[in-house]
Amino acid sequence: MRLVLVGPPGAGKGTQAQFIAAHYDVPKVSTGDIFRANVSGGTPLGLEAKRYMDAGELVPDSVTIAMVDDRLTSGDAAKGFLLDGFPRNVAQAEVLAQILEKGGVALDVVLELEVDDEEVVRRLSGRRTCRTCGHVWHVDFDPPQVAEVCDHCGGELFQRDDDKADTIRRRLEVYAEQTAPVLGWYAERGLLRRIDATGPVDGVTARAIATLREFD
Ligand code: AP5
Ligand code: ZN
Repeated sequence: MRLVLVGPPGAGKGTQAQFIAAHYDVPKVSTGDIFRANVSGGTPLGLEAKRYMDAGELVPDSVTIAMVDDRLTSGDAAKGFLLDGFPRNVAQAEVLAQILEKGGVALDVVLELEVDDEEVVRRLSGRRTCRTCGHVWHVDFDPPQVAEVCDHCGGELFQRDDDKADTIRRRLEVYAEQTAPVLGWYAERGLLRRIDATGPVDGVTARAIATLREFD
């Protein structure tokens, strides 16, 4: 399975990606996670990316595309993959098609998670991430038993720098301006499927798997 998950910030791409990738036994490739790992590690890539991420802007294509090319053409992505957070503009979608074509493969499907802006703000403003194991919680929708402490590992929870109100607003604008056109691009190629991504997490997963069955 070669699958792209797309949707606005906070749609639940990361949350659903882990279940869908496990279901198909393919690696999850999240550009946001790779950037954040580089930011924590203090690498040159991380330093470059952080400026854009904190402002809610896209990291330049030159940086992002090289990183994805590297990841998809090495090792475990040969058996398939789930891309979370890439492509995010039409130029990235075009290059992705070329990278796959070089390897003699193509995408099976692009799955859009649909949620409205109000829900995005609710989800992002309450999101908390574990500093130790990376698990993602929500203060109202999926709260840990003790506030700010991870149930899984006892680690400290933190709020992402880009989950502040002003940055959330800018991320939504960037999504509408740059990422929404990608949906049309894939729809024209017959690759786009959409699901309602509101309601309980397991219900969204069930809708995703049911929609993807066509490509099993
Ligand atoms: P990235 O990390 O990809 O951020 P994003 O697309 O804004 O998505 P999020 O990670 O914020 O949300 P999500 O959809 O994964 O939701 P989650 O599952 O966490 O990118 C960050 C930045 O990196 C970008 O702004 C950009 O600067 C850069 N970048 C990344 N890729 C790039 C690219 N290709 N090109 C250029 N730059 C790039 O869920 C959110 C919250 O809601 C959680 O608290 C969760 O517990 C909760 N939740 C999830 N599902 C439900 C549900 N069904 N009901 C209730 N709550 C739920
Ligand atoms: Zn933890």
